Amino acid sequence: MLKNRVKEFEKLLSWSSENYAHLPWRTEVRDLYRVLVSEVMLQQTTVATVLPRYESFFEQFPTLADLANAEENDLALAWKGLGYYRRAQNLYKAVNMIHQSGGEFPQGEEKLQQVPGVGPYTAAALTAIGRNELALAVDGNLQRVLSRYFLIEVEQGPKLQKAVHSLIQNKSFAKTLEHCGPRKFNEALMDLGRTICKARNPKCGECPLADSCEALKVQKTDCIPVKTAKKKVAISELKLLRFLIKNKQGELLFYKKRKGEWLKDQWELPTAIIESEDKDLKQYPFAEVANYSSQQITTAITRYRIRNHWKAMDELDFRDLGILNDRDFTFLAWDKTQEHISTASEKVLNHLNEQA
Ligand code: ADE
Repeated sequence: MLKNRVKEFEKLLSWSSENYAHLPWRTEVRDLYRVLVSEVMLQQTTVATVLPRYESFFEQFPTLADLANAEENDLALAWKGLGYYRRAQNLYKAVNMIHQSGGEFPQGEEKLQQVPGVGPYTAAALTAIGRNELALAVDGNLQRVLSRYFLIEVEQGPKLQKAVHSLIQNKSFAKTLEHCGPRKFNEALMDLGRTICKARNPKCGECPLADSCEALKVQKTDCIPVKTAKKKVAISELKLLRFLIKNKQGELLFYKKRKGEWLKDQWELPTAIIESEDKDLKQYPFAEVANYSSQQITTAITRYRIRNHWKAMDELDFRDLGILNDRDFTFLAWDKTQEHISTASEKVLNHLNEQA
């Protein structure tokens, strides 16, 4: 299976020279800081979502030192729309660690993985794409292309990741990778996966690797990669009440979520549970309150489907409920503040704004 494939993969490179996606992070000279940020942005987010945010991010934080010296809250705001705020928090830790140790990224995939938030994929991307050194960053596209090309009939996910990774341990494959250049090879495969070797309806007629693709030979492109049997996650219904407590200036009361809670470090409207299928849920206090909005806004977090209701209340009446009394509250002009308001709170407030 792993005979010398240099000739076949040269076809891939010549396809790539015509079809290379000139994405803004694919600059002539690579700055590892930019590689790190773009790879973190691209994890679980599409290229299309990253594109409009990429330039403005680097206008605000042009160098690793700029990001390390910035307030974490500024990063949180710049990250809005990119989702998975936890990744931004790890990125902040990562650049601080690198900055404090002199600004140089560690050498080798293993040492790179000691940086917060840098897992096997990002370490491989920094090595192969950033440094153009022998490694392979196996994202979803590469998993698909290579599992089809080499007919790896292993269930998608960590097992397939491992199987694809073991390819690179193979001398013949490593030689091909070295011959092609790790960066060129990696990016060509990413582009091929995104545009030709797509999950559904791959365009095998246009594929430079079609002649030697093992899955195509046996007409199995549509069942490789092998899909994981989806485990059903039990959805838990949750009904929350968001309290709208205004001061004279029209600002609303918020409190900051703590470590170990959902949405750590984000500001939320004072919130209580009205009903929950999960009786052990400790994220918010329970409260018995009548006369809240009949309307609701639906949000979701982990396995919880949340119906958000709201109720305007006087601050003293809210204090009388005796909930959340160990919290620090602050009044904020939610639509002007530079603080990081949780998306769910914002969703409720935007809805009310639209109705007003
Ligand atoms: N080029 C470099 N890294 C990339 C990625 N993760 N996705 C798409 N194109 C890329």
